[in-house]
Amino acid sequence: MTSSNRTRVLTGITTTGTPHLGNYVGAIRPTVQASRNANTDGFYFLADYHALIKCDDPARIQRSTLEIAASWIASGLDTDKVTFYRQSDIPEIPELTWFLTCVTGKGVLNRAHAYKAAVDKNNAAGHDTDADVTAGLFMYPVLMGADILMFKAHKVPVGRDQIQHIEMARDMASSFNHLYGEHFVLPEAVVEESVALLPGLDGRKMSKSYDNTIPLFAPAAQMRKQIASIVTDSKAPGEAKSTEGSALFQIYQAFASADETCALAQAFADGIAWGDAKQVLFERIDREIAPMREQYQELINNPAKLDQILLAGADKARQMATPFIKELRHAVGLRPLSSVSSASTAKDSKVALPSFKQYREKDGQFYFKLVDAQGQLLLQSKGFSSPKEAGQTIGRLQTEGVACLETLAASLEAWPPEMSPLIEQNLNQLRLASQKK
Ligand code: TRP
Repeated sequence: MTSSNRTRVLTGITTTGTPHLGNYVGAIRPTVQASRNANTDGFYFLADYHALIKCDDPARIQRSTLEIAASWIASGLDTDKVTFYRQSDIPEIPELTWFLTCVTGKGVLNRAHAYKAAVDKNNAAGHDTDADVTAGLFMYPVLMGADILMFKAHKVPVGRDQIQHIEMARDMASSFNHLYGEHFVLPEAVVEESVALLPGLDGRKMSKSYDNTIPLFAPAAQMRKQIASIVTDSKAPGEAKSTEGSALFQIYQAFASADETCALAQAFADGIAWGDAKQVLFERIDREIAPMREQYQELINNPAKLDQILLAGADKARQMATPFIKELRHAVGLRPLSSVSSASTAKDSKVALPSFKQYREKDGQFYFKLVDAQGQLLLQSKGFSSPKEAGQTIGRLQTEGVACLETLAASLEAWPPEMSPLIEQNLNQLRLASQKK
């Protein structure tokens, strides 16, 4: 199979922390496994530009980059088969970020979850709306869009919280394609439903922000100690224990086979002592991790070798990125003055636009509908009591596009789901046309 008909799968890892068992079970292990599929062309990268948004400690960024790179390789990522690189080694990415910035509605970014959460928090606390919000946080989805679109990724495995970003990347791609011709592939988010969310030491989701993690490659003695500190109930040895809600049991399950899991469930019912159960858990995890731990240590102690691996990955990535950014520069008009201007971009060929029709019904209410350039009905509003309200709703659809559809759902008649892509496409066209006037 040639690289051109394989599915390109791309994902990034923000370099702000030390990989823990939750990262391993939820991301590293399934991704490494999937990367072995011969039909997959894997692009995996260290999102260190993204790290700067959350972290201003240079030593930590560097250390985390080292640890994450070593963890992925020690966990079996074959850097000869996949493309494994550092985002900041690809200068084409910030350049593409700018191109995408120029086709992204500010209103769309206003609705990005991370930014909105910061704003909501400020508002709730009575602070200035944008207090302590950097433009970096605001632009986060555009940088991520550049990561994805740069390499024409088809599938982007992400956590649930990132789906919105992939949708925004699609939007950016279709906006750009509409204006400048078909350059980008529209990516799709892949959310792995079957992957376990690992509980941490205190039973809540294992996460750095709860300070309840077990580092993936801590020395065995430290891992044993941490496992001993997993919270349990106070049932005595000999008393039957419940597997339900037991963090210990859930972590075990993420590493064990079905048979092993059954056996531990039986031991719980038979009243295994918590200390013994913790020993069983430690041994099971260590059986999987110990062989990798050795390679991890070797890599950590040899950062120059990691630099070399990452630079070779960047070289491979740039074989695509460098000619592609050249193509994109040309498409937007950043060209040698001597090159003959081609008049055939989508922009020049004056595409007909969809339009809003406003009217008043016999019931005295004000309505509008959105029809495409051929007159096909796309959206039908419900009745508004004033023309101003109808006009404001149209205004939002024009400037915010699909981003506001959900919020406005109550004012619109429902549309068949198969119409959604068409509606999306037409709203994008309108939004761009209104921006580029
Ligand atoms: N934002 C992602 C996260 O926090 C990391 C990331 C950056 C990413 N760029 C990406 C993921 C591109 C997928 C594709 O998890």
